[in-house]
Amino acid sequence: MSVLSAAGAAYVVATLLFIMSLAGLSKHETARRGVVFGITGMALALTATVVVTVQEASTRGIVLLVVAVVIGASIGLWRASGVQMTTVPELIALLHSFVGLAAVLVGWNGYLGDSDRTGAAVDIYHAEIFVGVLVGGVTFTGSIVAFLKLSARVKSAPLVLPGKNVLNLGALVAFVVLTVVFVIQPALWLLALVTVLSFALGWHLVASIGGGDMPVVVSMLNSYSGWAAAAAGFLLSNNLLIVVGALVGSSGAYLSYIMCKAMNRSFLSVIAGGFGIEAPSSGDADHGEHTEIDPQGVAELLADADSVIIAPGYGMAVAHAQYPVADLVHRLRERGVEVRFGIHPVAGRLPGHMNVLLAEAKVPYDIVLELDEINDDFAQTSVVLVIGANDTVNPAAAEDPASPIAGMPVLHVWEAGHVIVFKRSMAVGYAGVQNPLFFRDNTQMLFGDAKERVEDIIHAL
Ligand code: TAP
Repeated sequence: MSVLSAAGAAYVVATLLFIMSLAGLSKHETARRGVVFGITGMALALTATVVVTVQEASTRGIVLLVVAVVIGASIGLWRASGVQMTTVPELIALLHSFVGLAAVLVGWNGYLGDSDRTGAAVDIYHAEIFVGVLVGGVTFTGSIVAFLKLSARVKSAPLVLPGKNVLNLGALVAFVVLTVVFVIQPALWLLALVTVLSFALGWHLVASIGGGDMPVVVSMLNSYSGWAAAAAGFLLSNNLLIVVGALVGSSGAYLSYIMCKAMNRSFLSVIAGGFGIEAPSSGDADHGEHTEIDPQGVAELLADADSVIIAPGYGMAVAHAQYPVADLVHRLRERGVEVRFGIHPVAGRLPGHMNVLLAEAKVPYDIVLELDEINDDFAQTSVVLVIGANDTVNPAAAEDPASPIAGMPVLHVWEAGHVIVFKRSMAVGYAGVQNPLFFRDNTQMLFGDAKERVEDIIHAL
């Protein structure tokens, strides 16, 4: 068997492993196995690619390959080994940007390098170059903006340029025209122009989307990175890249669709850079005064409570408060109090973030309920502890049609007898929207680090 056909066979096996990996990742019980399949498939695909390259390349090519792999692997190991769970989404966004940039570079290489295509195949190839550069460029700058927003280096509020929808539509029309001109008469300046256009479009699409919709943006960029890889696969005539890119592209698109449904958002509006979403109201209305409580006061409320619901959010993850929270739950249950958790689908910064933290702290699965399962029970609950959650418990989403998060389903914590909000200040949540919950008559604020405050309550109990 020649090296090329052996590599082809390895690619087929790797593709099957990737499909089995995706299937495994769809359930808790099989997720670990799914990860092992994914790693094995990637190791096989990389080995086959390196062997083929070494066979075909000059010494200079091999040296370049080794240098690139060593630099890439070192940066990857360094970044991934120090990452906190709360910063995984921004790391993912950054990694997506590399896929996008790679697709742009493959496109440029496709034009500048030699090609053995003739006749109509050349025209198709030139169109492929433009599609690859557009998808790659949008993924590149879009992912960088997502990284900046997720890591709070820039504000998460949506950018609302005048006529933003016309700008996006105009960019797409310009792309089609440029592609036709490039196919008829290829020129370097056209390629440079479409690259700049794709960078601007990616930046604008993601900058126009508000903080509350960022979960959808991350999964959407995941999908784009898949299509960018598939486009690079066409240019490089690499079947593995085409198949794997299509797998990532379609699964990411489906995840975006599921998230949009969960958050009551229009899928088309989000992928079109917030199409149809008007400039949000400033939200600086006077909400009145807030009341504070101390840990002793919370302990007294909990001691008298029949039922307690805990609504955790990003702040619980930042404070690493899941362990004392699990301890508090254990103690309350021992006293006969019914304690349950209400988990919002986008609480924290990644899908399933709260479930992972609570599982880590050994909280029993059966008291951890989804939003739909628990939302009708708040009215019959004595005390709700909102631990580091903000946007996901904001009544404005349900009550103020002008709010930037209007229509997003939220936990109806305000319907309970008493609401205790754990946070360090009156600062807004991720979407940058003030929360009227903090000013309600039945709400009391417990300021400070969530972990320390929960420990104080345990002490007082
Ligand atoms: P957020 O709205 O992000 O609010 C978290 C709150 O935690 C803040 O108000 C902060 O207030 C508080 N906090 C931070 N550190 C704390 C600490 N050490 N101790 C106590 N409190 C602390 O939280 P959420 O309700 O979980 O909502 C998640 C948001 O992220 C949504 O807007 C969602 O759309 C977005 N998002 C989610 C995802 C996914 S997939 N889950 C991905 C990207 C974006 P202080 O600063 O005053 O303490």
